[in-house]
Amino acid sequence: MPAGPASGTKAGMTGPRLTPLAAGLPASVPFTGPEALERRMGRRFLARLGANESPFGPSPAAVAAMAHAAAEAWMYGDPDMADLRAALAGQHATTPDHVIPGEGIDALLGLIVRLVVAPGDPVVTSDGAYPTFAFHVAGFGGVLHRVPYAGDRPDLPALADRARAKAAKLLYLANPDNPMGSWHEDAALRDLVAALPEGTLLVLDEAYAEFAPEAAVPAIDPDDPRVIRLRTFSKAHGLAGLRVGYGIGAPPLVAAFEKVRNHFGLGRVAQAGALAALADRDWIGTVRDRVAAAKDAIARIARASGLTPLPSATNFVAVDCGGDGRLARALVAALASRGVFVRMPTVAPLDRCIRITAGQPEALAVLEAALPPALSEARSVAGT
Ligand SMILES: Cc1ncc(COP(=O)(O)O)c(C=O)c1O
Repeated sequence: MPAGPASGTKAGMTGPRLTPLAAGLPASVPFTGPEALERRMGRRFLARLGANESPFGPSPAAVAAMAHAAAEAWMYGDPDMADLRAALAGQHATTPDHVIPGEGIDALLGLIVRLVVAPGDPVVTSDGAYPTFAFHVAGFGGVLHRVPYAGDRPDLPALADRARAKAAKLLYLANPDNPMGSWHEDAALRDLVAALPEGTLLVLDEAYAEFAPEAAVPAIDPDDPRVIRLRTFSKAHGLAGLRVGYGIGAPPLVAAFEKVRNHFGLGRVAQAGALAALADRDWIGTVRDRVAAAKDAIARIARASGLTPLPSATNFVAVDCGGDGRLARALVAALASRGVFVRMPTVAPLDRCIRITAGQPEALAVLEAALPPALSEARSVAGT
């Protein structure tokens, strides 16, 4: 029997002829953006503390370089990204053949999955880990195996065991971790690499590396074919809206990106901004200091309401609300209704926490005023 018209299409017209894979996917975004929440609420947030952006902004040198490049934006960016690749290689003491820039870690994750995961292929991650990886795995038909956190950190031995048991093509790990802000140190990470089964590629997402203690950023030979590490300009460099990230890996893997990447994806303004940001090391030091002060302030504000801030190697603090997911969800909503945007982990027991990004003093003052009444409201909503 011929298929009838898809719902929403007129009789006699076909709907979009999606692949079976695409047709079966939910039309979901990994995160609802704060702008969407603002449109829903009909007003702007007073304190944007939920997306782990850097409200301290980009380096003034990067802003100047982007302004200059804006007038030249009639030209496509260099599809080889040669200057940026060379500068990144210099910073990481490697060669441009080991570096692949792209439109943020999010886009690079999609390319990695596309390159490595065929429909039905197994991959492994932590249950509650950064969701964009899982989003791309679903999009390419991979089968995701999730390993619970242990003590608010990804469970490295269990991840390696699961990768072996499932013959996983990829193992995704964010270190430092989002959403918990926790981290593993050098020895544990090197043990993980040593324990990787043959054929498993470790995707080591280091979005927050600039905020982490040195020991949390392991020395890994860039020629090691078992690992690709990912960095971004969205966090410490304050350029989340620009969309620039990069991978560091062995040249055969880096070269494979040429097969699938959007060659003109990194625009002229983005390349110029990233290049200038990279050169301004002092700015990163300034941002680190401000983030550390903001995290101290968040911890103080949380404790004043009887909540428990967790240690963080990132630009945010996971705050244990002392209840379950219901209480944290009610608190996220109660804060939003008072103009404060924060997010929370999605799975138990991590979802006992809310996650607050290091903000400017003015935004933290809004948080400080909003938290006590929001918490009372949340407790009554959650019945705790
Ligand atoms: C662990 C992790 N990876 C990647 C990203 C996104 O990075 P990008 O902006 O480079 O796509 C985030 C942003 O929150 C993150 O927390």
